[in-house]
Amino acid sequence: MTQPRKILVTSALPYANGPIHIGHLVEYVQTDIWARFQKMRGHQCYYVCADDAHGTPIMLRARQEGITPEALIARVAQEHKADFAEFRVGFDNYHSTHSEENRDCATLIYRRNRDGGHIATRSITQAYDPVEQMFLPDRFIKGECPKCGAADQYGDNCEACGASYSPSELKNPRSAVSGAAPEDRESEHHFFKLADFEEMLKGWTRGGHLQREVANKLDEWFTAGLQEWDISRDAPYFGFEIPDHPGKYFYVWLDAPIGYMASFRNLCDRTPGLDFASFWSKDSTAELYNFIGKDIVYFHCLFWPAMLHGAGFRKPTAVFVHGFLTVDGQKMSKSRGTFIKARTYLNHLDPEFLRYYFAAKLGAGVDDIDLNLGDFAQRVNADLVGKVVNIASRCAGFISKRFEGRLSAELAEPELFDSFVHAGKEIAAGFEGREYSRAVREIMALADRANQYIDEKAPWVVAKQAGREQELQDICSMGLNLFRVLIGYLKPILPRTAERSEAFLRIPALAWDALSTPLLGELIDPFTPLLTRVDPKAIEAMLADSKEDLTAQEAKKTRPHETKTEGHLVREPLAETIEYADFARVDLRVARIVAASEVAGSDKLLALTLDLGGEQRAVLAGIRSAYRPEALVGRLTVMVANLAPRKMRFGNSDGMVLAAGPGGQDIFLLAPDTGAEPGMRVR
Ligand code: 2FM
Ligand code: ZN
Repeated sequence: MTQPRKILVTSALPYANGPIHIGHLVEYVQTDIWARFQKMRGHQCYYVCADDAHGTPIMLRARQEGITPEALIARVAQEHKADFAEFRVGFDNYHSTHSEENRDCATLIYRRNRDGGHIATRSITQAYDPVEQMFLPDRFIKGECPKCGAADQYGDNCEACGASYSPSELKNPRSAVSGAAPEDRESEHHFFKLADFEEMLKGWTRGGHLQREVANKLDEWFTAGLQEWDISRDAPYFGFEIPDHPGKYFYVWLDAPIGYMASFRNLCDRTPGLDFASFWSKDSTAELYNFIGKDIVYFHCLFWPAMLHGAGFRKPTAVFVHGFLTVDGQKMSKSRGTFIKARTYLNHLDPEFLRYYFAAKLGAGVDDIDLNLGDFAQRVNADLVGKVVNIASRCAGFISKRFEGRLSAELAEPELFDSFVHAGKEIAAGFEGREYSRAVREIMALADRANQYIDEKAPWVVAKQAGREQELQDICSMGLNLFRVLIGYLKPILPRTAERSEAFLRIPALAWDALSTPLLGELIDPFTPLLTRVDPKAIEAMLADSKEDLTAQEAKKTRPHETKTEGHLVREPLAETIEYADFARVDLRVARIVAASEVAGSDKLLALTLDLGGEQRAVLAGIRSAYRPEALVGRLTVMVANLAPRKMRFGNSDGMVLAAGPGGQDIFLLAPDTGAEPGMRVR
């Protein structure tokens, strides 16, 4: 192999005030596949990310929940990390922009740019909320559209007529925070003089660091003229105070990309031998790649390289831009149930399916990709289950039953094996160039050939004929060797299936170079299904749950009601009023918990067996964070007994137990008074 490359890869940092959804996952899956591919090729590759923890929305969200911003970002970080881990997004480090490393890096970059004369200071007039005593970002100003008069329009464009305007043009403007009429106030701000870097940026954007369509977009911006960038915000603000300007904070977008550096710094500080400077200094020979969505090109292709340059650091080797995700051809929509959170997906479907589907759709361009749910099920079932896993399942049984798990000592068809190995070059080029759809097409064409080989050799016929034992072992060993190469090629996309396959074949973690050496004369384990088919009902249930998420959110907007969590009063919504007849349709019964256990793979669910006075029900309940299973056995509770059974990713749930509370350890399972008997109706 050629000299290993030193590579640092990043994905855009998700905001720390909301959940990861499948739109975000396009990017994390795209980057993760690329990083895993580089590692498999033997390169020294690090993939880092962090939560983007600063800014007004996060400050206000924490205030609304009655908690500190630090508590909010700590909770969201845990949720994000859990989602990423289950989707097998293999970060080498996941940090936060609200960290000492980031404060240091941001301060250093600011100081060097200031000392280089690239920061200007002047007063500007801005909308100010006199009640909340804070300046208002555009998106926190509401009013009537200046064109069509539609009420309650935010910031700078009208959802009713599509008009664009500046927030100062809104009629009857109101602060979205307090409802007060905003006042104009002056304040001193600090600006990054982007135009100082125009020549450098023009050279850089045409220097092979960007996709062509992105470089073209940048040309439009150069033509329009580079404006000074306001990098400061007034208190109150959740962020880093600017060192020489008390009461002024770095704008969230200044320290966000610097979070890439900070996350890597944090990794270096706890990894012996990993040298920060050799990746970030101006003369670094390491490669740096930032994967981003097309909405944040301006920040990453102008501000970010300019700030780095002004501070004497290296610039990205490339910024890789991708498009957005549509679902069934349309923008993700809460009301259609297609605004799917990572967690909701995980409750119903295997994460490897989505990784595969995205890979099958992703190219190197900035086009949007579509998740067509019918096509998704069909494609995963046909390709992964019907083609790839099928090769192993057709061959492995004979090896286990007739040859005590041992593979043949020689390859039956070395040319066929070699053709699989040679195809690796094209497949690797596909991965390297982010043309994953091309790589997947090649891999599936090979899977077709492997199945064709097995069809022609018909081991099930050979198995029935006396004296053809060796032939049978050779055919099946050949099939399994082809399977091994295919799984190696799919490993960046399907890391968990690859791990399971490695265990089944009893081989060490597959590296790209190892694929050319066949597995001969070795023992393998009996085959267990590596993937199961997508059940269309699971997709329906996922969409239904996504709609339920919306109902819960909508309810929040209706009637505020106070409840307590983490020692603070927060506004918790009451849902819409329902009629008694609606309530009466719910059949609530006393039930005894006769068995309770953890659900492998889920950190939320417990599997309960409930006795309803003769009849038993298997119910999955999201109460694991609050109860140990053994503490529940024998207890009485109340269940919804006439809820239609629901198919979830971890099994079926036939009913639902009743519990209340904000979550975490504060979930309280309903406990009827003594004297209640299983099966009693609750009214
Ligand atoms: O657009 C976003 O979601 C930002 N949080 C991305 C930041 S990427 C980087 F600059 F930190
Ligand atoms: Zn309008």
